[in-house]
Amino acid sequence: MKVAILGFGFMGKMHAQVFQALPGVELAAVVTGRPPRARAWLKKAGTEVPVYDDHETVLADPTIDAVDVCLPTDLHESRVVAALRAGKHVFCEKPLASTLKECAAMVEEAERAGTVFMVGHCLRFWPEYQAFADFVWKGRAGRLLSLTLRRAVGRPAYSTGNWLLDTERSLGSAFDLHIHDTDFVLHLLGRPAAVASTGVKDEAGWSQIFTRYEYPDGPLVQAEGGWIFPPKWDFRMDFRAVFENGAVAYDSAASPTLTYAIGNGAPKPLAFREPPAGESRETGGNVSSLGGYMNELAAFVEAVRLGRPPPTATGREAMESVEVVLAEIRSAEHERPIRLPEQPR
Ligand SMILES: NC(=O)c1ccc[n+]([C@@H]2O[C@H](COP(=O)([O-])OP(=O)(O)OC[C@H]3O[C@@H](n4cnc5c(N)ncnc54)[C@H](O)[C@@H]3O)[C@@H](O)[C@H]2O)c1
Repeated sequence: MKVAILGFGFMGKMHAQVFQALPGVELAAVVTGRPPRARAWLKKAGTEVPVYDDHETVLADPTIDAVDVCLPTDLHESRVVAALRAGKHVFCEKPLASTLKECAAMVEEAERAGTVFMVGHCLRFWPEYQAFADFVWKGRAGRLLSLTLRRAVGRPAYSTGNWLLDTERSLGSAFDLHIHDTDFVLHLLGRPAAVASTGVKDEAGWSQIFTRYEYPDGPLVQAEGGWIFPPKWDFRMDFRAVFENGAVAYDSAASPTLTYAIGNGAPKPLAFREPPAGESRETGGNVSSLGGYMNELAAFVEAVRLGRPPPTATGREAMESVEVVLAEIRSAEHERPIRLPEQPR
């Protein structure tokens, strides 16, 4: 399977490493606004891949099976629709888009095209989050009573043209970063009845958001996310869950990362499965892992091979996550809870 990556910044390079490690996949082209930099990076990584500064060349190439869209969010819709119309399978980074109209255009085009369409909601594939979801769904410690999720990082200065700090383009960290936890909550527990949010708003939009997801008769669920911290603050994500008869805790900066206790037992590591090429590695003092990205792109490749929809992280699921985060931002703006319609839009 031949893949082209559109957008070769932080995420495009991450995906290039994964595609190079996945069997049966050839990274066949890269499209970026800065070809010389991409060529230098690829050379250093020991690979020679054609690099273009226009996506039309790649879409017109019949040998390319799939396109991986790692562009700024405001460019997703036009590139995804063009790739689907060219008959390509498409993987698109999260958030799908910043309006429901754009999301719907992509989802409907994918349904017309009949090719595989998947969105990069990587927590659904993150080894520890997968192990935790399995723990919840199997009821290993009884009913889930409460869940708190957090995600924090220094204000990003790396993005191309600083698009992440342009609220018109990224909608700020409440949208771009915190959507990971919203999507995981939807994956784990389904659609909440309402969301109640507050946060800190500055020149980069809602730079920190606190949300309560309301599940009548269900667990108490809340999440905090933002890139409001000083620029050198390391990325960190964590969660804590309390059950009728136990607890689970995860901290990306701890070792072991994932622990649990049942009944009166002492806390111990909860086992999770890393893909073979996705072991954790040290990145400047912060442990990061390719495992979640390996798992999600392997699922995309497998879906293409089998000619089936992806097992999760579909276009419609990604659109629902956008719908819920937009409701969270409205809730923070209007300082009141927002009820969600029973069915996704
Ligand atoms: N799943 C995750 O964990 C995760 C992490 C980071 C980013 N993302 C998502 O990946 C996507 C890309 O983010 P990134 O961090 O790689 O961004 P980035 O700024 O590092 O890279 C953007 C790439 O797009 C190209 N580009 C083309 N036209 C552009 C334009 N008009 N403005 C700016 N860049 C342009 C740039 O040359 C660059 O190659 C976003 O949707 C982002 O939300 C996902």
